[in-house]
Amino acid sequence: MNIIVAGGAGFLGSHLSEKLVEEGNDVTVVDDLSSGLEGNLSNIRRRIHFIKSDIVDFDSDDKFDVIFNLASNASRIEWEKRPVEVALSNSSGNNNLIKLALKNRALYVYASSSEVYGNPDVIPTSESYLGRVSTTGSRSPYDEGKRFGEALVKSYEREYGLRNIIIRLFNTYGPRMRGGDFYGRVIDRFIQQAITGRPITVYGDGMQTRSFTYVKDTVDAIDLVVKSGSVNQVYNIGNDREMRILDIAELIKKMSNSTSEIEFMKLPEDDPRRRSADISRIRKLGFSHRFPIELGIQYTLDYAIENSNGTV
Ligand SMILES: NC(=O)c1ccc[n+]([C@@H]2O[C@H](COP(=O)([O-])OP(=O)(O)OC[C@H]3O[C@@H](n4cnc5c(N)ncnc54)[C@H](O)[C@@H]3O)[C@@H](O)[C@H]2O)c1
Repeated sequence: MNIIVAGGAGFLGSHLSEKLVEEGNDVTVVDDLSSGLEGNLSNIRRRIHFIKSDIVDFDSDDKFDVIFNLASNASRIEWEKRPVEVALSNSSGNNNLIKLALKNRALYVYASSSEVYGNPDVIPTSESYLGRVSTTGSRSPYDEGKRFGEALVKSYEREYGLRNIIIRLFNTYGPRMRGGDFYGRVIDRFIQQAITGRPITVYGDGMQTRSFTYVKDTVDAIDLVVKSGSVNQVYNIGNDREMRILDIAELIKKMSNSTSEIEFMKLPEDDPRRRSADISRIRKLGFSHRFPIELGIQYTLDYAIENSNGTV
């Protein structure tokens, strides 16, 4: 098949593109490299088409069967520093790619997020939960952006017959997740801090929970819902194993034999207290995790040590 992966130079997009290439598809990656790296595609660079473009402006006369839209900055610091770009990726850029999908009669796969649930009071959270989200808080460009993104996809489905699948991704981690204070997300940040001996910075008291999925499990689940799921359906992709952030910090400290202290910092605004995915819908399709957290962290740690230049 002819496939676009928008955001394909990013963490998740590059792993997804690799899988799609391995399966024999013709893959075009569209990415503005705002947080992604062309180097993430080095394993498949000669076997894909790469177009550096913002999805807000992208167009093509080529014929495509599937368009994956993963193009959105995804770390909290990014969406606090570039709130307009993040909001526009999920609204204007999303609109632009939806029109391209309609022109091609392509399946449109929109990468949404567990952030659409906000600070949920039902745990584990299923796809039918409507969300408890602030429209005006500093997380809103991202979480309301994703909510509007979903609403736009469903509107095009109702009015123009857009064939779509919405995937609500929960915290995913693994090799190529970008580090540093700007791009870094929790597991990657802890790993970088642990291997460089800096304090491991836990927000709040660390009793807040998240559920984590190793990137290869996430990519397998995306592949499964596209091949075996229902068109016009929404799927949680994540894990129902809930873990406290402090426990993750301690696990990473132990697994890396780090001398770093654990330091507690102010909890960011609207930080969700608990997060865990009800994944019965993808389980019914036959999904199960292959990578327990200890194994996934070991692989991520090995990758970080191999690629560390001590400046992260
Ligand atoms: N990784 C997770 O835990 C997670 C969780 C929930 C949702 N998601 C969603 O999955 C998608 C991929 O996330 P990721 O973790 O790989 O993040 P990432 O930052 O590594 O990847 C995003 C990619 O999109 C590109 N991009 C951003 N805005 C763009 C634009 N306007 N035009 C073109 N390219 C653009 C970036 O350069 C980057 O390569 C995002 O939509 C994110 O919201 C990820």
